[in-house]
Amino acid sequence: MSEISNGQMKHVEINGEEIVIVNLDGKICAFADRCGHMNARLSRGNISKNIVTCPLHAAKFDVTSGKKIAEPVMEPSPGLEPLPPKWQKYMESAGQEAHYIKTYDQETYEVKVVGDTIKIRA
Ligand code: FES
Repeated sequence: MSEISNGQMKHVEINGEEIVIVNLDGKICAFADRCGHMNARLSRGNISKNIVTCPLHAAKFDVTSGKKIAEPVMEPSPGLEPLPPKWQKYMESAGQEAHYIKTYDQETYEVKVVGDTIKIRA
């Protein structure tokens, strides 16, 4: 408990599973660290209250339930320099395929706090 301050996330690996532990005002939640979209580490994203935002395409998940609450954003940022023509073709093709990728809810884990120790059933 002392390693995770309020509003912080911590990446851990248990039996080969990558898990994020979150401290929400003393309530501890645990969920799968790999994003249900394209596998980015959610623990490297941002958390605001009970919502984590993926660092790669900004999908949002409720950390208490694992439910997806916002789809990924797959548009380039306005103001980016144009890519060379070969890269533009590649990005158009990749972008078309990306629309077929589904984003799944995150698996959550049962958590029990005993003193300063967090136990997770993985
Ligand atoms: S990998 Fe997380 S939103 Fe794309």
